[in-house]
Amino acid sequence: MTALLDVAGLCRRFTVGQPGPIERLRGKRPGVLHAVDAVDLRIGEGEVLGLVGESGCGKSTLARVVARLIDPSEGSIRFAGEDIGQIAARRFARHPLRRSIQMVFQDPTESLNPRWTAFDCIADPIRRMDPGAAAKVADRVHELAALVSLPETLLQRFPHQLSGGQKARVGIARAVALRPRLLVLDEPTSALDVSVQVVVLKLLDELKRRLGMSYLFVTHDLEVVRLICDRVAVMYLGRMAEVGTVGQIFERPSHPYTRALLSAVPSGVPGRTPQRIQLSGDPRSPIDPDPRICRFLGRCPNGTERCGTEMPQLRPMGEGHVAACHLADAA
Ligand SMILES: Nc1ncnc2c1ncn2[C@@H]1O[C@H](COP(=O)(O)OP(=O)(O)OP(=O)(O)O)[C@@H](O)[C@H]1O
Ligand SMILES: [Mg+2]
Repeated sequence: MTALLDVAGLCRRFTVGQPGPIERLRGKRPGVLHAVDAVDLRIGEGEVLGLVGESGCGKSTLARVVARLIDPSEGSIRFAGEDIGQIAARRFARHPLRRSIQMVFQDPTESLNPRWTAFDCIADPIRRMDPGAAAKVADRVHELAALVSLPETLLQRFPHQLSGGQKARVGIARAVALRPRLLVLDEPTSALDVSVQVVVLKLLDELKRRLGMSYLFVTHDLEVVRLICDRVAVMYLGRMAEVGTVGQIFERPSHPYTRALLSAVPSGVPGRTPQRIQLSGDPRSPIDPDPRICRFLGRCPNGTERCGTEMPQLRPMGEGHVAACHLADAA
């Protein structure tokens, strides 16, 4: 499969804990938080890559860097063969490729302008990025409302007059208005009731097929991954722990962290749900981490001396299946 998105060695660091003047005199330096650390990632045309991992592991940061809303600290982001990592986020807002990469946010309430009607929210990207289509904006908005099954009567309402599921549809219609090739979705259903979540997931699955888009799909929910993803990337404290197809990850997880994550998910097959693996110990700090030490050490049930002196790199476990663990065995 040709890669639509090809990310290599991507890092995003944040400076934290700026010392006060007296602390500075005493030689205290600010800390550097490694939110995304040396990540490689590929997404093929029409492919859905799920990005999972616990809270704070860097999923949203990675999603925002890929969607070019924030800048990387290091590394390259190639999209359709073009190196877009070099274009500053504020310049990318006006770049012709902006329309090809769009984002759907977690909370539709926060991502929709409260002073705009649903119509204006959906029309906004068309008016900004596609001036040629300005005369036909109304037609396009009605088409998009139909595409996401949003009743036309709701188009004149403001976000606070819509339900969570309806707002999610507006957010999705807005994101697909310019027919992007890649949609970055950051927990797009986590603010919704379970029953509405299922409907919105089905809509996203159908839209992907109808419009031929690729997704980077950030979620906490492994059931969602099983439902709509082709491949899965498991992140732990800023680094990729394991990447593989849904089949490889669910059937033959190689990284101890992936196994712990999966142990919390019912398999759906009686007698096949693995025993729950409870991780003990505290996660390591993402601030100024020791580059030699495996980030999972301290919580890993299998950690050895080597894990404390040599950071494991991603290694092949099977075709297209990689894991970053010294103790993982290739299939
Ligand atoms: N602007 C920022 N300044 C400093 N630290 C930040 C900033 N944005 C994110 N972080 C830190 O980067 C790390 C990754 O955050 P991120 O939001 O990407 O995690 P996440 O995996 O999306 O978590 P969640 O599942 O809770 O949404 C966290 O330690 C977070 O505190
Ligand atoms: Mg997040």
